[in-house]
Amino acid sequence: MNPRPPSDATAAVSDLPDFDDKARVVEAMFDRIAPRYDTLNRLLTFRMDVGWRKAAVRALSLPRGSRVLDLACGTGDLCRTLTDAHLDPVGADFSAGMLRAARTDAPLLRADAMQLPFADGTFDGLTCGFALRNFSALAPVLVECARVVRPGGRVALLDVAEPESPLVRRVHGAWFRHVVPFVGGLVSDRAAYRYLPASTAYLPAVPDLLALIVEAGVIDVSRRTLGFGAAQLLTGTRA
Ligand SMILES: C[S@@+](CC[C@H](N)C(=O)[O-])C[C@H]1O[C@@H](n2cnc3c(N)ncnc32)[C@H](O)[C@@H]1O
Repeated sequence: MNPRPPSDATAAVSDLPDFDDKARVVEAMFDRIAPRYDTLNRLLTFRMDVGWRKAAVRALSLPRGSRVLDLACGTGDLCRTLTDAHLDPVGADFSAGMLRAARTDAPLLRADAMQLPFADGTFDGLTCGFALRNFSALAPVLVECARVVRPGGRVALLDVAEPESPLVRRVHGAWFRHVVPFVGGLVSDRAAYRYLPASTAYLPAVPDLLALIVEAGVIDVSRRTLGFGAAQLLTGTRA
């Protein structure tokens, strides 16, 4: 996935690894930052990330007991939110460090999103939080997401976004460029917390992102922004 040119909200594209290196760099980085990952999420989003995950789970609109794959589950935040909503999650992530740091009762497994170890139509739903921009190639991962969800099942993808309002965009850009790397450096790893905002440049423009989701086999796709435009939630139904 090639990065887009930097904008207000993103740091230099030169901070980002090339396609060939990306999976290795991203996996090692999440292994490193896993112990403080949750603390920094809460701090850097003023806990808004908790509400964003709840919104993603609500948007699935699935009945109690439905089986949901939380792809790129990290430390299990979305798995916990799914369990609280009486759904039955399974988490998958390729970072052993993130899985070790996870706090959830859901079964977790180490797997690469490019090649999921599940049969077609295994799940009633799928969530994926803040990982789209971390995949080396987004189109094949979206195809895998659609493949493992049964027809009629639901998909909810959550990631960062760039606010549309020029004023909010400027404040958000400064926060991403200066505050996130500074606080991230104090509490965890400065290089990682420079990469995370910069990696917004990997996300396709909104129309292209919506088109990729539809091409993967998901219909009735809708998008809403959260947190004054700092996050986006994309939902749809498996065709
Ligand atoms: C920003 S974290 C998000 C974690 C969690 N979903 C959350 O909401 O906090 C991104 C996660 O994507 C995982 N990831 C990135 N590329 C992956 C891949 N190809 N296969 C599986 N997991 C991947 C990373 O290991 C990391 O845990």
